[in-house]
Amino acid sequence: HNHTQRISLDHDFEVLYEKACEAGIETAFSRAKQTPVPCPFGSAGVCCRHCLEGPCRIGFNGKGPQEGICGANGDTIVARNLLTMMIEGAAGHAEHGRETALALLEASEGNSDYQIKGVEKLYQVAAGLGIETNGKAVEDIGKQVALKALEDFQKQAGAMNWLTLHAQQQSIDKWDELGITPVNVHLEISKAVTRTSMGCDADPVNLLLGCLTMGLVDGFGGLHLSSDLQDILFGVPKLVKSNFRLGVIKKEMVNIAVHGHVPLLSEKIVEWSRKLSEEAKAAGAAGINVVGICCSGNEVLMRHGIPAASSFSSQELVIVTGMLEAMVVDVQCIMPGIQKVAECYHTEIITTLPYVNIAGSTHVDFHTDKADKAAQDIVRKAIANFPKREHQKITSFTGTVEAYAGFSNEQIIEALSALNKEDPLKPLLDAIASGAIRGVAAIVGCTNVREFQDWGNVTVAKELLKNNVLVVATGCSAHSLAKHNLMNMQGLEYCGESLRGVLKAIGQAVGLESLPPTLHMGSCVDNSRPADLLTAVANRLGVEVKDLPAVGSCPETHSPKALVIGTYFLANGVDVHVGVNPQVSGSQFVTDVLCNGAKDDGLNLEKLFGGKLIYEKDPVKAAAILLRRIEEKRLALGLSS
Ligand code: SF4
Ligand code: FE2
Repeated sequence: HNHTQRISLDHDFEVLYEKACEAGIETAFSRAKQTPVPCPFGSAGVCCRHCLEGPCRIGFNGKGPQEGICGANGDTIVARNLLTMMIEGAAGHAEHGRETALALLEASEGNSDYQIKGVEKLYQVAAGLGIETNGKAVEDIGKQVALKALEDFQKQAGAMNWLTLHAQQQSIDKWDELGITPVNVHLEISKAVTRTSMGCDADPVNLLLGCLTMGLVDGFGGLHLSSDLQDILFGVPKLVKSNFRLGVIKKEMVNIAVHGHVPLLSEKIVEWSRKLSEEAKAAGAAGINVVGICCSGNEVLMRHGIPAASSFSSQELVIVTGMLEAMVVDVQCIMPGIQKVAECYHTEIITTLPYVNIAGSTHVDFHTDKADKAAQDIVRKAIANFPKREHQKITSFTGTVEAYAGFSNEQIIEALSALNKEDPLKPLLDAIASGAIRGVAAIVGCTNVREFQDWGNVTVAKELLKNNVLVVATGCSAHSLAKHNLMNMQGLEYCGESLRGVLKAIGQAVGLESLPPTLHMGSCVDNSRPADLLTAVANRLGVEVKDLPAVGSCPETHSPKALVIGTYFLANGVDVHVGVNPQVSGSQFVTDVLCNGAKDDGLNLEKLFGGKLIYEKDPVKAAAILLRRIEEKRLALGLSS
């Protein structure tokens, strides 16, 4: 592929990119071309701007300054910058968790537009937290669970409740011994910001341990807490069939894109787009069509089968179709660039959170006690924009790709139960033990404007499928896989024969032709789901998660959030591949700790936890490394070769 000419494996976006270029509309893809080479110092992680004496930077190959003005050396600067990225990623997910906890509290107290829909999940989580449920009303239990969640932002001693709820005891012991177990989300984030500030932590080992704490904050206070509480509020996702690619945007409909991450808003937009369809008809449209972008898209896909229009990197190009009446955003991964693109069309960008505004866009304040009102306002704004379309500016697409989604662990277990009611995990374990399935891989993370969109995600997936690895996916990577037939039956041709056999056996037990080649497990916070699946398998086998032939891969990441999710998996001993420069190459020490196998007596991820960071740009080579790691772990477990 000619990466300088082409931007995406999805041809529709190339059509729109060309259209945008011809019309002089700037997008992230064209802006990326204006700085073809990122700053080498920042790329290596050796640029420090933690104080007003600096910015300082470390020269390469021992030439030029080897310390900042304060005496911080390259190892400290690199480790500190890495921790700064971790904090940013974890804070976003933790804020997501906190907002969801408050939403559950308000729903339980009755002063909210939301109700508890996932009652079964509520009982399950309550039991896990040791909350007495006998004879109590659902709202009572909901309130207790919400308060336990909020404790994870307040308590001053012990371990986070959500960590104790989900982690294996062996892992907790290890984390305690290293002193990295988080006490509460805010305390740890505040501590980490302090330790990275000028004149504090200057020990690269200690700073890297701080990164691991952030990984645990993210994994439990961000991912698990958010998924659990969202399942309680909105219900546990179940198998759904929907569509991907730009054909999901309908010319005759009022099109509303939901974009961002926290599903509180997008759930209500979906609800009111259905209730107000008559008003859209009165405005001359055939109805209202909601489409998803990024993880807001994944959330409403998983629970309502809403089709998906775009992953992260092409979000601006969706507007260039000329058919979007509104793009409603909440938080995270929203490019400021959407506003300027929207100004070239009739599209209205609507921000909804007081701390996420975009200059020039419309703001509709969104809160749980006024959610219905806000959603109605937003949907009506979109309807009002429909007659403003400029028909000569429209580019419509007809192609869509079918995709199955909704693979919560509950759904996976339900499917497996059809094969073995008493011991649902057994068919999966048998397949792994016999080698019919070599291992499990989670392909996660983003799409990145500097990468050829979808290529890395799809290539890693196809290589692993061919070699009989069970692949699950979340986030924008799931968009990539879905768009290229890896979530429908056509993609079964990419699977090795034995994997295909297992997928068919499980799928047919629940009335499908087969399970799809890759399983969509949800949004980025839903990386809690593959984590829980691994924990269940490990517990059932009486081993640790680190012992399992399981890997994570993040081929096209762009976000610090993906780095901190990866760190959570590393703290559990799972190998994590990134296909994009993690910006640590300026320190051989940091690189060794993260990426190289056990070498000496110092801190080493693989020695401490059982897995390591693998940085490999080439997706084919990356898959080969992951396959090798899977086989090594199989061997150590005594599984058939
Ligand atoms: Fe330079 Fe130290 Fe200030 Fe960083 S903290 S900018 S290395 S003086
Ligand atoms: Fe995401």
